[in-house]
Amino acid sequence: MTTEEATSSVRYYEDLGCWVVWGRDQVQAALQDPHLSSETLDAVNLSYLPADMHGECAHLIETMRRWFVLLDGEKHTEARRAIQPMFSPRRIRRLEETIHVILEEELDKFGRSSRHDAMPDLADNISARTIALLLGLPADQGDLLHTWARPLADFLAVSYRPDYARAAQAALREMADFITNAPAEDGESIWNKAQGSEWDRLATSSMVMFGGLETTAGMIGLALWHMLGNNLTHTIAAATDDEPAKAVVERVLELYAPLGHVARLATQDTTLSGHAIAKDDVVLVSLTGRDLFDHSTPSTPLEQGTDQNRSDHIAFGFGMHYCVGAPLARLTVARLLTLFARRFPNATVSEVNWRVNKTFRGFDRLVLDLQAPAAAALPQR
Ligand code: HEM
Repeated sequence: MTTEEATSSVRYYEDLGCWVVWGRDQVQAALQDPHLSSETLDAVNLSYLPADMHGECAHLIETMRRWFVLLDGEKHTEARRAIQPMFSPRRIRRLEETIHVILEEELDKFGRSSRHDAMPDLADNISARTIALLLGLPADQGDLLHTWARPLADFLAVSYRPDYARAAQAALREMADFITNAPAEDGESIWNKAQGSEWDRLATSSMVMFGGLETTAGMIGLALWHMLGNNLTHTIAAATDDEPAKAVVERVLELYAPLGHVARLATQDTTLSGHAIAKDDVVLVSLTGRDLFDHSTPSTPLEQGTDQNRSDHIAFGFGMHYCVGAPLARLTVARLLTLFARRFPNATVSEVNWRVNKTFRGFDRLVLDLQAPAAAALPQR
């Protein structure tokens, strides 16, 4: 490798037959390039899945073909526009109090849990309950939501494995039953808002639900680990608002990107930072700030630094497909950090294990030592 290749933030990997782009400016340019399409299911996922699996997994494939995150142009815009009001700042503000109650309840349960593993015992429950709340779905089956999201995340990360494809298809079918049988309490359910044929609506509903689950749970684990490892708990606990916690949230998004990359396909010849990208080339756009194939997972958290509230990262993407769930994820995780810090100001990390999945990033274990709870001595919100 030449020095130029080592430092450049656009690089072609001969062995993988794809480009990797990283760094904020290059990523923003790639995500705005009209010749780089989001319609990548065939080129990126299905081309590696054995051909005999395509028939067996027709339901999975046909549903994902309708996921609007994997569509361009009007098809994308119309599907997104239909569900966008569910994510409006006004609606998120209306749900804020209920989210606060969910967080308090889950922290109560976590304090009483025997193993204090923040992934299954806290992060998964919070992401499932807050997303179910937002999407107008029943929240009492929170554990089920992640048993469906996980196989989908595994399939999207490693699409050539037949066992992953089968498990993802089974998960999608169960999700579909859950979504269509959910009683719509005030008409504001994702199933009611989604547009198009029944299949389109199912695809949108399952995609939006999946889109938030693994990413938010990953983000919660990373944020707790970063806060505890940087000894930020006391500062956050002492604050009268979520501002210090919000700064941690932005830094965590910048440093660890819970969604590691997104893919694009060149529909015409184009250029990125002077590199000629040919029609049909696959471009993997890294959201971690680094080359996808050139980093290991840190064993201790990186520094928080003094730069407050940096929100110019690309962890939520950029342009047309910018994450609709960003306000919900930001609010949930910042409030959680504040409430956690007030309850467990002396907590420390006793065991941490990174997930195998390199696309949906975070931990599969994050065991905490909560030590003496100190909530009573601290001001209540
Ligand atoms: C920390 C948490 C989250 C992260 C890091 C994250 C990351 C992202 C990224 C990077 C994209 C852009 C995809 C692309 O350009 O191809 C995206 C899109 C999307 N996200 Fe999120 N997300 C998070 C939370 C959520 C939540 C809570 C929801 C919903 C409840 C959600 C729903 C979506 C949807 C529906 C899209 C597709 C938008 C479109 O195609 O127009 N996300 N997300």
